[in-house]
Amino acid sequence: QRTLRVALLGAGSVGSQVARLLQEHADDFAERSGARLELAGILVRDPDAPRDVPLPRELLTTDAESLILGADIVIELMGGIEPARTHVLAALRSGADVVTGNKALLATHGAEIFELADQVGASVSYEAAVAAAIPIIRPLRDSLAGDRIVRIFGIVNGSTNFILDSMDRQGLSAEEAQRIATELGYLEADPTLDLEGYDAAQKAAILASLAFHTSVEIDDVYREGISDVTADMIEDARRAGSVIKLLAVCERIADAEGEAISVRVYPALISREHPLASVHGGNNAVFVEAEAAGPLMFYGAGAGGVQTASAVLGDVVSAARRHIAGGVGVGETPRQSLPTARIGRITTRY
Ligand code: NDP
Ligand code: HSE
Repeated sequence: QRTLRVALLGAGSVGSQVARLLQEHADDFAERSGARLELAGILVRDPDAPRDVPLPRELLTTDAESLILGADIVIELMGGIEPARTHVLAALRSGADVVTGNKALLATHGAEIFELADQVGASVSYEAAVAAAIPIIRPLRDSLAGDRIVRIFGIVNGSTNFILDSMDRQGLSAEEAQRIATELGYLEADPTLDLEGYDAAQKAAILASLAFHTSVEIDDVYREGISDVTADMIEDARRAGSVIKLLAVCERIADAEGEAISVRVYPALISREHPLASVHGGNNAVFVEAEAAGPLMFYGAGAGGVQTASAVLGDVVSAARRHIAGGVGVGETPRQSLPTARIGRITTRY
């Protein structure tokens, strides 16, 4: 049986679980992929730092260049823009397929990365980048490619949902709820990204680009976070029969110039009767409205190391199958054919 070399960049909340599962279920992965997946090494900042998930010391390295060179599949789970961008581009140039959960990178440098992937005939998979364990990227890219999506809305950030939900149902302070969310591995390395809505905005840009077959950049997304939401506001919402949720909305709109796209993230008052009000803890829910399919709902864990590892490993198996098939099955719309989105300014609230 063929062996594929897998390079893992990052062994934090998600990466450590990916490494653990790749090793624990090596036989299953070999059966499902058609190749043995050999974990060639794991890039970290400090190989000697204590780790919650024990990893073989000999696999830990700070030498990104050697690790990436010679890898068939590179899994990027470092987060942030640099050096993740440089490593992903290097991996593609060396002919590796890339799997990433890095929405910050894709929402800011997606065009550059996908264009290079097109040029070199490699794939970039990112199911984990939006709504963690919930399969939403592939349904939008593949299953709904024959339909016309008109709107996507929902909760796409697990940590802020955990914080708002804990304040609402357990009366925790925002600080205490954030502390627990950090322990659960829900927050980004820079929590401002979650609290100020940047993470949700990055995900909304990715969803809108896929759903509307266009290129939506992070600067196109209207954004408000939850840092101004107080316990009093949550109490007022409760009295009014509502909850406060950080909502992401991506939709086609009509304005004076014709059809445009609106993408926005903001804390919204949601009636307790609405299904989104029942999205508790670190869960996410994404509603998709398509012309032929009608309304669809996707629900599940929106953050967490092991939950996110599920989505990452699904992409790894697909990348391995693609490798074995000789590079067939990229699946992305060629970036050259994407029209530029016209972004409409709309402030309608739900
Ligand atoms: P962590 O911050 O927990 O882990 C980051 C890892 O990358 C660490 O192992 C760190 O090394 C390593 N790393 C970071 N910078 C460097 C560098 N310059 N050189 C070498 N190694 C580096 O992140 P998460 O696991 O939480 O997230 C990883 C990615 O997955 C992010 O893009 C995130 O947005 C995304 N994601 C996260 C989810 C979650 O619930 N946590 C859910 C969905 C996506 P060291 O261990 O030595 O510090
Ligand atoms: N920090 C992110 C969140 C992780 O809370 O949703 C999952 O993308």
